[in-house]
Amino acid sequence: MDNRPLGVFDSGIGGLTVVRALHELLPNEQLIYLGDTARVPYGNKSAETIIRYSREISRFLRSKNVKAIIVACNTASAYALTVLRAELNIPVFGVIEPGVSAALSATHNNRVGIIGTIGTINSGAYQNRLREQNPALAITAQATPLLVPLIEEDWLEHSATRVILDEYLWPLRLAGIDTLVLACTHYPLLKPTLTNLLGHHIALVDSAQTCARFVHEALARDGLLSTADGEPPLEVYLTDLPVHFQKAGGRFLRKTLAHVSVVSVEDC
Ligand code: DGL
Repeated sequence: MDNRPLGVFDSGIGGLTVVRALHELLPNEQLIYLGDTARVPYGNKSAETIIRYSREISRFLRSKNVKAIIVACNTASAYALTVLRAELNIPVFGVIEPGVSAALSATHNNRVGIIGTIGTINSGAYQNRLREQNPALAITAQATPLLVPLIEEDWLEHSATRVILDEYLWPLRLAGIDTLVLACTHYPLLKPTLTNLLGHHIALVDSAQTCARFVHEALARDGLLSTADGEPPLEVYLTDLPVHFQKAGGRFLRKTLAHVSVVSVEDC
């Protein structure tokens, strides 16, 4: 049993969907969240830059005495997870392995779609792991870079979002997918819109929920769950305080954000 906090990070506020899912499953765990709001987006940056940012953030979280780190960003998971695991002496969880397992369980026709940032899709991280585990899969991967700003604007049901989604989704429809991996921590907010557009017969794999389940199982297996009583408050650190953070962050978390501090991680 280990009562130290869990460190969670993302390029910005999308990772709060992972925090919400973690909080639902593990209400007694203290969570420390770092959103790199000064340097978001990661989705169009190089692997080298994302690895550097992820190392700095992990050092910051280590300074908070966390027992494990959860990379609540698909782009950072795609590029930096292997490096962080090799360098840190605590467990490091990402969003990709849990999403891959969930997609493999969900598909019946072996046709899987993936949507994510340009970085996540170009890295091939999901495609390679899915193929390793099931070489018979037909995978259609589509970069959907316009979705993050639309979600942050709360244009979830807006006609412009539907037009853009229609354009992005047609190759996936054409491929006859029965499972769609939402390979970005912002996308769980789009689930109702995606179900309306695609129909209930297409399973949506939500990387926030699948990651939280995976972390829960791993902590329980390794004897690292907290024995603390009550629900400790979420500690939120940001590298910049964007004007809309409180409002947008509250939508991702589904509750009001308290305890927000601005920090610099570059010297960590
Ligand atoms: N959080 C990022 C992800 O899950 C999306 C936002 C960004 O591009 O930084 O890939």
